[in-house]
Amino acid sequence: MPHTGLFILLFLVIHLLNFTFSGAEPGEELLSQVVKTFHTPRFLVLYPVLIVLLGIHISHGFQSAFQTLGVENSGYSKVIRAVGIAVSILFTLGFALIPVLVYLFYNAGGR
Ligand code: HEM
Repeated sequence: MPHTGLFILLFLVIHLLNFTFSGAEPGEELLSQVVKTFHTPRFLVLYPVLIVLLGIHISHGFQSAFQTLGVENSGYSKVIRAVGIAVSILFTLGFALIPVLVYLFYNAGGR
């Protein structure tokens, strides 16, 4: 948990530098910035890797949250674990696909 958590912090710092503090105005300019970022090989690889780590963090965090709320030994723990894993796989696939799809379907010029 603390290890994957540190990678999320790393992801956020890189991510905010890439987009929020890139100086690009929301709209066309920000879209070009996103397209340019995902045509940079290191970011195309790094984003999905860090998003998988985020997914591992969420799959564990989901059940931890229920444990904190005291529903651990209620007979639902298997269901909670399964839902946590299903949700994190779904989120991971969804977010990790974005850089790949942007790379495949947008030209480096922004369109
Ligand atoms: C690959 C998938 C992702 C893409 C393409 C993406 C894209 C963006 C873009 C373009 C912005 C700037 C928005 C703006 O300045 O108006 C942004 C901001 C942000 N993103 Fe992401 N993001 C992704 C995944 C994530 C994930 C997984 C998280 C959570 C850990 C996250 C957290 C944030 C935060 C906190 C901001 C700053 C808030 C903001 O500027 O509006 N993003 N993202």
